[in-house]
Amino acid sequence: MCGIVGAVAERNITTILIEGLKRLEYRGYDSAGLAVFSAQDGLQRRRRIGKVRELESAVADDPLVGQLGIAHVRWATHGAPTERNAHPHFSGHEVAVVHNGIIENFEALREELKTLGYVFASETDTEVIVHLIHHLLKSTPDLADAVKAAVQRLHGAYGLAVVSAAQPDRLVAARSGSPLVIGLGIGENFLASDQLALRQVTDRFMYLEEGDIAEIRREQVSIWDQAGHAVQREVVQYHEGAEAADKGHYRHFMLKEIHEQPSVVQRTLEGRLGKDHVLVQAFGPQAAELFAKVRNVQIVACGTSYHAGMVARYWLESLAGIPCQVEVASEFRYRKVVVQPDTLFVSISQSGETADTLAALRNGKALGFLGSLAICNVGISSLVRESDLTLLTLAGPEIGVASTKAFTTQLVSLMLLTLALGQVRGTLGTGVEAELVDELRRLPSRLGEALAMDTTVEKTAELFADKHHTLFLGRGAQYPVAMEGALKLKEISYIHAEAYPAGELKHGPLALVDADMPVVTVAPNNELLEKLKSNLQEVRARGGELVVFADEQAGMSNGEGTHVINLPHINDALAPILYTIPLQLLSYYVAVLKGTDVDQPRNLAKSVTVE
Ligand code: G6P
Repeated sequence: MCGIVGAVAERNITTILIEGLKRLEYRGYDSAGLAVFSAQDGLQRRRRIGKVRELESAVADDPLVGQLGIAHVRWATHGAPTERNAHPHFSGHEVAVVHNGIIENFEALREELKTLGYVFASETDTEVIVHLIHHLLKSTPDLADAVKAAVQRLHGAYGLAVVSAAQPDRLVAARSGSPLVIGLGIGENFLASDQLALRQVTDRFMYLEEGDIAEIRREQVSIWDQAGHAVQREVVQYHEGAEAADKGHYRHFMLKEIHEQPSVVQRTLEGRLGKDHVLVQAFGPQAAELFAKVRNVQIVACGTSYHAGMVARYWLESLAGIPCQVEVASEFRYRKVVVQPDTLFVSISQSGETADTLAALRNGKALGFLGSLAICNVGISSLVRESDLTLLTLAGPEIGVASTKAFTTQLVSLMLLTLALGQVRGTLGTGVEAELVDELRRLPSRLGEALAMDTTVEKTAELFADKHHTLFLGRGAQYPVAMEGALKLKEISYIHAEAYPAGELKHGPLALVDADMPVVTVAPNNELLEKLKSNLQEVRARGGELVVFADEQAGMSNGEGTHVINLPHINDALAPILYTIPLQLLSYYVAVLKGTDVDQPRNLAKSVTVE
């Protein structure tokens, strides 16, 4: 899995494919390849391990020219990152396929296809798709029809681009669980897994929906939905300025990044969920084997990423029954650590270059961990290169120094890890995985609902602008969310903010509470709610102003000095992700009121690559 580009045109499309791949490099990958059809040479391909520029020089040394082609950057799931495993995969020189996602029943299909005489050249799951289509073309000569028949046999997730030497005027695409977008040109059309890859050639796009199959020709695009009915998909036009490194209509990158969370969370989930379970292979080729041996987890990270790790500890222990320890990297790296047998080392980092986190990973190698997993936003980072397994958070470039979308995509990734480990170890309760997979699919729209409270939170921010201290309270997995809320406020508004587990209030911080110290709490509707309500009474009794972000079903209402902001009801396990959003917005609006440099707060750096 990783990135797809395709083109059908009158001109030579090789350079368009390579440029498209370069624009997908941010996602992280280990090899790249392309296949091009020309009337003279038929289907030809070039593949290289490493960077797209290696592929580019391979094409420069031995040029490929054609008007139809598909290209791919691969992130190994089945089979090591080798040239043989790189896409496109061929069936003879007749059919070529590139694929994002994971085919779960590939072993059974491979055996079946072998008995039909197909010889496999790679260890990938993708190769079954190309031979299957080749086989079906014998009885179903139209390429789109053969792809429609082939996908009926596939279990798992896929975004596919297929070409056939016998039908060189078309490109066929299929989407299920892994995104694809058609780029519309004049007398030429394109396909990609992300519109960014095609901004070089067009600004008009059609997004395929789940289950869609498309036949893309130079002058015509036909799309069929899951039920096989011909459908039209809306054409979306992008204007300059919608690029990732541009603020668009937002006043700050931070606000833009806060608002991107529904779409980046969606992207982090794509290609990683089966019907009712997490696709374990999304963590890499050796994940299933390694996860089966894991009996403990050690998480190491810094800053916001550390808070994500703290939430994960609650999830790993309560949902998957796996003991978990979490520590800031700067402590872990200098401490004498006792490692329990069969412990997986998990590092979490937006940048993948944080000096302490990297040092902790390097030291960890000598400590006898079972293996290492990086949860990271930068595919080409040192942390990713030096870890055994990786799950990329796919939040896209994060420009604001205060981390927002990286945090929520880390949380989503850590929930995937919890479910994957629990699945492989058989420690999840009955129905837990199916329910949470379902809830995860709904999460982007829930986050959208939380963002719709933007103006309410902006109004609430006025309470804080003249304050010098604040207290954030949470219980259970919401305690680290309170810590993250406090960190955001101090980072960008320079107001002193501390987070406490609500039960600790009486053991010290209550002495500070008065009318000048507002208290912020997150109150999902769970078994800790009644206890939290008592803690809030303790604050009110001391004249402290309360801001409560509460589940709409929690039965909390505004009162003297109590400001309740209701959030949509959500499964308790996913509540930490949802409740993060209003806390980010709160810090943002307080900082705007105070006139600070929101995107580049004083004394802080986005990536701390020195000790
Ligand atoms: C810096 C950044 C934070 C970030 C932390 C860890 O302090 O300002 O936003 O959370 O580093 O960075 P990482 O890239 O490892 O997640």
